[in-house]
Amino acid sequence: MSEKSFRSNMGDNIDDSTDSRLIYSGFSAEDVEVEYSLRPRFLSEYIGQNEVKDSLYISIGAAKKRGEPIDHVLFYGPPGLGKTTLATVIANEEGVNIRTTSGPAITHAGDLAAILTNLSAGDILFIDEIHRLNPAVEEVLYPAMEDFAVDIIVGKGPAARSIRLDLPRFTLIGATTKAGMLSSPLRDRFGITHRLQPYEVEDLIKIITRSASLPRVGALITEGGAAEIARRSRGTPRIANRLLMRVRDYAEMRCDGEINEETAAKALEKLGIDELGLDGVDRNLLLCMIDKFGGGPVGLDTLAASTGEESSTIEDVCEPYLLQMGFIARTPRGRVVTPLGYAHLGRAPQEQNGQISF
Ligand SMILES: Nc1ncnc2c1ncn2[C@@H]1O[C@H](COP(=O)(O)OP(=O)(O)OP(=O)(O)O)[C@@H](O)[C@H]1O
Ligand SMILES: [Mg+2]
Repeated sequence: MSEKSFRSNMGDNIDDSTDSRLIYSGFSAEDVEVEYSLRPRFLSEYIGQNEVKDSLYISIGAAKKRGEPIDHVLFYGPPGLGKTTLATVIANEEGVNIRTTSGPAITHAGDLAAILTNLSAGDILFIDEIHRLNPAVEEVLYPAMEDFAVDIIVGKGPAARSIRLDLPRFTLIGATTKAGMLSSPLRDRFGITHRLQPYEVEDLIKIITRSASLPRVGALITEGGAAEIARRSRGTPRIANRLLMRVRDYAEMRCDGEINEETAAKALEKLGIDELGLDGVDRNLLLCMIDKFGGGPVGLDTLAASTGEESSTIEDVCEPYLLQMGFIARTPRGRVVTPLGYAHLGRAPQEQNGQISF
């Protein structure tokens, strides 16, 4: 699939907004071409997520033995962890075609019916952001997934009648960052469901080393250099690859081109990404909570107003990682900075009315 058709098939899935933060794990316009060329093609090249991989080996192997396509698969988990990649890997492993689209791109039930009736036996239909399908479109999927059929209304008014068209046996692969927003009838129709987890540093080192060796990046990197980037990638391959590209540029301009621990650390420091992957916006948020609100508790809207960030940016981009690192905690009265958060900024928890606040 060309880059252009990939973009058009994805509807508004690509975030063209001005969010140019390097640690943003969503898909941005500048990732399109890079990601396309760095994607692993087969399970053997796909690094980490061992449980998911083992179980996919079995599902694909068993389906091949039976001579049938594999059951419908749902991948869920935060952005940039490899859901789309796994969908294409399954297609390559099975040697079948994959048709890619996304929830918001299918606006009418008829559009989905047209896509489904054009599939060939064994094809994979990949629907990204499947939680954003509108309910009328979702209804078309139920019989398609269960009975491999679509019901089409022909004619109008009293003459209208419904005819059922048989579909070839296909596999639907759905991906979502918000599994909770998926309706239960849809969720229940997937035979295989996998949750992707953030990657360990060891796996990110392997991903970075692999990407560096590919022609699109073509960089010399030491294990120490890869580890330095991996530690700052927030457990996310998309961020790891993005940081690698920036560090490579720095190494080419400032040194002899080799990425070692020192060059990587210098380059990332210049980009404002600290040794645990926090950028200026994250640190600002923590500092604001400490300096203006005594470490919290503070509500989301108040934080948004006092930092000048959108509340969605705070909630979707900063908070998940700060929570994961244990730098902040959520309480019924709002967010608070934890002792670990204070320590990361080199601050001491403040005393308020004889009590240490955190
Ligand atoms: N296990 C992996 N091994 C190597 N590279 C990976 C792996 N997982 C992801 N990547 C890289 O990370 C990039 C982002 O992955 P992908 O697009 O599949 O994420 P996603 O989960 O679909 O994200 P989104 O929720 O934004 O759609 C890919 O270009 C790929 O190069
Ligand atoms: Mg994706």
